[in-house]
Amino acid sequence: MPEPKEWLFPAFTDHDQYDRGMEKLSDLHIYTGSKCNRECDFCIVSGRPDGWYQPITEETINAAFDLVPMDGTIKFYGGEPTIAPDNLLWAMRQLRERGFRGWFTIFSNGVLADRILKLLEADDRLDVVLNYSILHGEDAEPIPPDSLVKLQAFAATHPDRIYSSHAGVFPFGRGVNFVAEVGQAHINDRMHTSMAKKMEIGELDQTTVAKAEERGFRLCPRCRPVVGTDGRHHACPFAVESKMPHFDMGSVTAPADEVLARFQHFLDWINDVLEPEAERRQLHPCLVCTHHLSTLPQPQASEEKINAMA
Ligand SMILES: C[S@@+](CC[C@H](N)C(=O)[O-])C[C@H]1O[C@@H](n2cnc3c(N)ncnc32)[C@H](O)[C@@H]1O
Ligand code: SF4
Ligand code: SF4
Repeated sequence: MPEPKEWLFPAFTDHDQYDRGMEKLSDLHIYTGSKCNRECDFCIVSGRPDGWYQPITEETINAAFDLVPMDGTIKFYGGEPTIAPDNLLWAMRQLRERGFRGWFTIFSNGVLADRILKLLEADDRLDVVLNYSILHGEDAEPIPPDSLVKLQAFAATHPDRIYSSHAGVFPFGRGVNFVAEVGQAHINDRMHTSMAKKMEIGELDQTTVAKAEERGFRLCPRCRPVVGTDGRHHACPFAVESKMPHFDMGSVTAPADEVLARFQHFLDWINDVLEPEAERRQLHPCLVCTHHLSTLPQPQASEEKINAMA
């Protein structure tokens, strides 16, 4: 696995650190489905060519606009967002016309490099995060060489627009079987690679890394939630294909303050219910979310428990 200095692009870090006290979310994901031009063994959303895709609509945009501050970040992912570049361009233009001044971030496998360059040229507050595994040919077929050359040429003249994703692999979706097949030692190597890079760029310190290692990396990353083009708000971008009620934050037409309240409940539930259960079972919390959610109370119930204890 590459040393931090050998990564092909800088590691992506969030534009804003998440603040639980804020009235809106610093950033939010828009998910357009699992359809993809690749089928990676580890894929958290089980991306595949015959996966589903639904375009971003006015409804999706309204929901995102209400949840994110004007200078926040809106992240697009799938599946592979570059399979429908015109819809992405349309969505970004709509948001700009409504006054959104923040960052757009597109997560992509980089294969369709020409489309990525066109998107990057269309908006100068857009950055692209490329899949670490595909970039470095680690557990995945590498990016086609001509695509890499084009992306590197753009990055040479635009240093802060193309990044690499983190190197960690979490056990959800197709990642469950992948982790079982490659073994925990390999997953730990990938986590070390990820953390070494994050230490290099100052995102993590030695103490935090040592604590994660002590826990056997059994931690939920607490990502920001998702507006799905299937018409639902979902609490976790990794588990977005799960229909378990624990993740459901309502219809995209639900008022933003209700969605935010549900997400706060979800974060409390991770702290008070999910991670303790993962420790009790000595499992990664993503595996608890995969196999054991039906035995756990839903997030609202966990807040009631907290109130009862107060
Ligand atoms: C699901 S992909 C969709 C976007 C695009 N197709 C790509 O691969 O970047 C979004 C992000 O999830 C990451 N990812 C996929 N499977 C993962 C796993 N098992 N654990 C952690 N991250 C994963 C990818 O590296 C990528 O940065
Ligand atoms: S990780 Fe990205 S490129 Fe790979 S199958 Fe999943 S969605 Fe597609
Ligand atoms: S532990 Fe559950 S909530 Fe956290 S990232 Fe994994 S699937 Fe999502």
